[in-house]
Amino acid sequence: MLSEKMQAAMNKQINAELHSAYIYLSMSAYFESQNLPGAASWMRVQAQEEVVHAMKFFDFIHERLGRVLLAPVDGVPTEWASPLAVFEDAFKHEQKISGMINDLVNLAVDERDHAANSFLMWFVDEQVEEEASADAVVQQLKLVGDSGHALYMFDHELGARQA
Ligand code: FEO
Repeated sequence: MLSEKMQAAMNKQINAELHSAYIYLSMSAYFESQNLPGAASWMRVQAQEEVVHAMKFFDFIHERLGRVLLAPVDGVPTEWASPLAVFEDAFKHEQKISGMINDLVNLAVDERDHAANSFLMWFVDEQVEEEASADAVVQQLKLVGDSGHALYMFDHELGARQA
């Protein structure tokens, strides 16, 4: 059974993951408005992954005989200065989520909750990938620079991402 403290922390993480999905959907909508369908699709896939993350916590809480309590999801930005600014925000956001996962691991260790600790290791690994994939796009967009032609080609590449 989950402790009250762990249950509250995991419910907070469900909210953070759903908020992440909402952020990435907003980024997807922004890219649609900029006529960049590949980047819009990349963000849509990312949003779907965030819902999967939220549901992993949702299911784990229930498996541990806890109670899921859904809280309101915060608002999200809707405008960015450039495609690069969007992915820089995505990278920063993933760093923040990694910090939250680390805090959850620390709590699991403090509480000697080995089941929670084992469950959270998947997220520790996932966050390495989440940060790396956002940063890879940031670096590539820096190479693209102001070239409309390069952006057009790169957008096509981003559209190849699958869920
Ligand atoms: Fe679920 Fe992108 O962290």
